[in-house]
Amino acid sequence: MTGATEGMVGGGYYDANSSFQAKVAASGNSLLEQAAAALMVAPGCQATVADYGCSEGRNSMAIVGEALTLLAARGATDMAVLHNDLPTNDWGTLAANLAGPQSYLKVFPAVRALFAPHGFFERVTLPASITLGMSGSAAHWLSRQPTDTDMPRTLYRSDAPQDQLPKILAQAASDWESFLAARAEELQPGGVLLVQMLGSDGAVDPVRVSAAGLMTLMNVCILTLVDDGEIPSDVYAGYCFPVVPRTIAEATAPLAGPLADRLELIHCGLTPVASPYQVAFDKTGDAATFARDYTAFTRAFSESTLRAGVFRFARGGADNAANRMYALMQKALAAHPGDYPFDDLTLAVMVRRRG
Ligand SMILES: C[S@@+](CC[C@H](N)C(=O)[O-])C[C@H]1O[C@@H](n2cnc3c(N)ncnc32)[C@H](O)[C@@H]1O
Repeated sequence: MTGATEGMVGGGYYDANSSFQAKVAASGNSLLEQAAAALMVAPGCQATVADYGCSEGRNSMAIVGEALTLLAARGATDMAVLHNDLPTNDWGTLAANLAGPQSYLKVFPAVRALFAPHGFFERVTLPASITLGMSGSAAHWLSRQPTDTDMPRTLYRSDAPQDQLPKILAQAASDWESFLAARAEELQPGGVLLVQMLGSDGAVDPVRVSAAGLMTLMNVCILTLVDDGEIPSDVYAGYCFPVVPRTIAEATAPLAGPLADRLELIHCGLTPVASPYQVAFDKTGDAATFARDYTAFTRAFSESTLRAGVFRFARGGADNAANRMYALMQKALAAHPGDYPFDDLTLAVMVRRRG
């Protein structure tokens, strides 16, 4: 396995199963207004919006549309949008979304959309070219697996053995600094970046980690396959789910340290965002629909990394292992809908490029 993920499940599957990520983006609307108000770019009519980790684009259309409206209200007339994701992202579905009825191009036909297929831990476009950057539900992904982890019975930050946790946190810290350093190069002086990602509450002991309940369930289901001999135990021991929800202290550390001369911190805070699957279940009590939708949401973001890091080593083949694992999940959620909540704390970080 090289990178942490090859992206979300494509062909419209992520778009159809990412209403939680849409809620996260909508929860940041007032922060986006603050970000536009905090811009200190030279007066002029040109502006470029960037969306880092845009995926197939259904959610990107909505949030980018908000950003363009805010920039237009500040007098921008010539605007471009840079959609960034991994080269292996489903760019075809993004292009279709741009041509579709929900596209921001319907409202702003003069805007030009640009694609930047490059990992966001490096610069993905020209220096000093971005006016307003955004990133939703993406910057918690690591660039790669943490080195030399040995976690035979666990999967994630929340359940990692004490001697393994430092390796996970070191990778997360190094990746976050790289992400911010790349954005510091790309932002125009006075340009602003708003990042929303999974967070952790470091003020409580043990640290409260977003999605811990879901990862507990995924771990239980994968261990069933390991214990059946379907997945080699040494493969699973070397795998760690490469998403790390950060605390406020971890998120702000580079801004008080190596990047303090380039980026100014405007806001950093944690806000819970309710899972729409849980909200629907609380209303209807329909456990089967809850289990199906919660599993499809999980599959959309997790299948690619699990295939590359775990399922491809399965005795019966990757397809069979993936289908078995997600079927086990769905069955467990239908039988015990209250046992594995998607407990979210969304971490928002807003910074401005100095200079
Ligand atoms: C959960 S999706 C979020 C998509 C969209 N922003 C939303 O809110 O629905 C996370 C996205 O981050 C992308 N991603 C992960 N690692 C990345 C990297 N190193 N560089 C660029 N994109 C990355 C994934 O490919 C995926 O499309």
